[in-house]
Amino acid sequence: MARRAADDMFVGFFVNPAQIRYLAIKKERIINMQTSTCQKSGGCKIPDRATLPKELYQKLAAFVDTLPQKEGHLVTVLHKAQSLFGYLPREVLEFVAQQMGDPLAKVYGVVSFYTFFTQIPKGKYPISICMGTACFVVGAEKVVDSFQKQLGGIEVSEVTPDGKFSIDCLRCVGACALAPVVMIGEKVYAKVTPDMVKGIIADFS
Ligand code: FES
Repeated sequence: MARRAADDMFVGFFVNPAQIRYLAIKKERIINMQTSTCQKSGGCKIPDRATLPKELYQKLAAFVDTLPQKEGHLVTVLHKAQSLFGYLPREVLEFVAQQMGDPLAKVYGVVSFYTFFTQIPKGKYPISICMGTACFVVGAEKVVDSFQKQLGGIEVSEVTPDGKFSIDCLRCVGACALAPVVMIGEKVYAKVTPDMVKGIIADFS
C-alpha cells in the first residue's frame, strides 16, 4: 500500500512521458537488485538431475546471497552446505562451484583437505570417535568396537539401515584431558568406556 501511494505521488510529479518511462526503468532495476540470485533466471541453477531436495539448494543459494563477497568464503559455504544436506555429494559440490564462480577442482580440493567435510552420507546422529594419540592409548579402539557391536556390526563410515547412526573416527579434537572423547552431533561424551556405549546410544533412541 505504501509503495502504491509513493508510485502515485511520483506519477503526480512526473507528467512528462519520458520521465515516467525513466522512473519505471529505474524502479525495475531496484527490484532486480533486491531479488536474490536464486530468483533471477539462471542465477541459481539447481542441477537438472538433483536427487536432493530443491528447497535445500534454494536455502544454500539464499545463504550465498547474504555474503558480503564470495572471495574467501568457500569454506563457509561448504560448511553451510554440509549442515543443510548432511554431506557433500558431487551434485552439491557442482552447485557450490557454480554459485561461488569457482572451478569444481578447487571445491573438491577444499573438501578433501578438511577432514570435517564428508562426501559420504551420515546418520541422523553422527557418532564421531576421537582416535588421536591421547584417546587411542586409553582405549578409544575398544570404544569403537563397542559402538559397532551395539549398532549391528556396521563398519566405520557406514550408516545403520534405519539411517539413524553413523560411525566415524577423527583425529585429535583438542580435548585430550577428556580422553577417550566421543561426539554425537554437538554433544560431547568424556572418558568413554565400552560399557558406557549402550547408555549413550539410548540417549538418542
Ligand atoms: S587425542 Fe582425542 S581429544 Fe586429543
